[in-house]
Amino acid sequence: MTKIKKGIPLIDQHDKNGFWGKFGGNFIPETLKKPVDDLSVLFEKLRKDKKFIQERDFYFKNWVGSPTSFFKLENLTNHLGGAQIWAKVVSEANGGAHKIYNATVHSLIAKRAGKKYIVGDTGAGYAGKMLSMAAKKFGLKCKIFMGAKDIKRQKPNCDAMRKNGAEIVPVYTGSQTLIDAVSECMRYWVSNCDTTHNCIGSTVGPNIFVKICGWSTSQISRELLIQIKEEFGKVPKKLKLINCVGGGSSSFGFWNEFMHYDKKQVQFIGVEAGGPTNSKKHAAPLTYNSKIGVLHGAMQYVVQNSDGQIEETESISAGLDYSGVSPLHCFLKDTKRARYCAATDEQALNAYQLVTKFENLNPSLEPSHAFAEAIKIAPKMSRNTIIIVNSCGDAHKDRDILKQRLGK
Ligand SMILES: Cc1ncc(COP(=O)(O)O)c(C=O)c1O
Repeated sequence: MTKIKKGIPLIDQHDKNGFWGKFGGNFIPETLKKPVDDLSVLFEKLRKDKKFIQERDFYFKNWVGSPTSFFKLENLTNHLGGAQIWAKVVSEANGGAHKIYNATVHSLIAKRAGKKYIVGDTGAGYAGKMLSMAAKKFGLKCKIFMGAKDIKRQKPNCDAMRKNGAEIVPVYTGSQTLIDAVSECMRYWVSNCDTTHNCIGSTVGPNIFVKICGWSTSQISRELLIQIKEEFGKVPKKLKLINCVGGGSSSFGFWNEFMHYDKKQVQFIGVEAGGPTNSKKHAAPLTYNSKIGVLHGAMQYVVQNSDGQIEETESISAGLDYSGVSPLHCFLKDTKRARYCAATDEQALNAYQLVTKFENLNPSLEPSHAFAEAIKIAPKMSRNTIIIVNSCGDAHKDRDILKQRLGK
């Protein structure tokens, strides 16, 4: 079995063909080979460039608003009994979610590459909203590919993209969700790669996109490790870091700095979208042991039928409604470093209601999946167990769905 190596960042533990164990790689058309290679060379140079790091840190602090808060959910903890529940409130970041880290870094890279145009995909609309914000800030022209179903269900984020001057390209193929948006955006990039930079919105895609995104969102755990040490004096003996998993960028970023702690001390729990209770459809390839296949340029676990055709997914949460998952998470599953499970639409809605009843927090439907697992396991644990949930998105974008489902 492949093992995680100590002392090397996980994003760098791939072989020369871009594989983390069996996962990842570069399944790309010939025309993309040069732009992907050029981007890899540029990124490897920039991540060692002190000036670039200073620039990244400057914008993370002065524009993104790092660090985001970390606090105890005392009322929820007292209500449930058992383990302490804490939140890392990443939704405080500029724009309302973690997607701002990846969008900022990609925009800074695009500037260094001399590109004037930037394109990206989005599901929940946060990746698109943040890319439109970063494009506006750094003077790039921006196009966002988004499934027609998601345009309807995430209107507030679409309004924000348009306000920031981005063009939204509706995608009508397939399930009209994130998977189709990523495909269409890649297709566009194939024909426009000379002038245009592509920002894939999660830790998915060909190897270099997984790396850039994971490197960017790792800001979350860099901050959290400092905050934990300030709060508890050291990393607690029993720590559980719970995060929802769509493509896997928030969860990877939330866990990265803790990668080399013993899993008995720091456990990673990834919560995928289990879909509606009364449906066989889900978006949880890791939980339900989906087969390995190629999607969006990388080998990964993919929800598929027995013929190997990609299966449509279903989830109340547009951000988790994706058939594939990051090769980094496939690797974390196979090495048993992380545990993966799913929460249904209804469990996520119940968790949203409970969290908002007891706390001044408004987690979007994606992190509500993570809260569902925290709520499930906390009562069975002792008070010295610390559960931290990454509240990685704000529910403002979900107001129409919440009104429809909960009447508020
Ligand atoms: C708030 C929020 N959380 C989670 C996700 C899932 O993506 P990832 O797994 O890449 O963090 C999304 C995706 O759009 C999102 O908007």
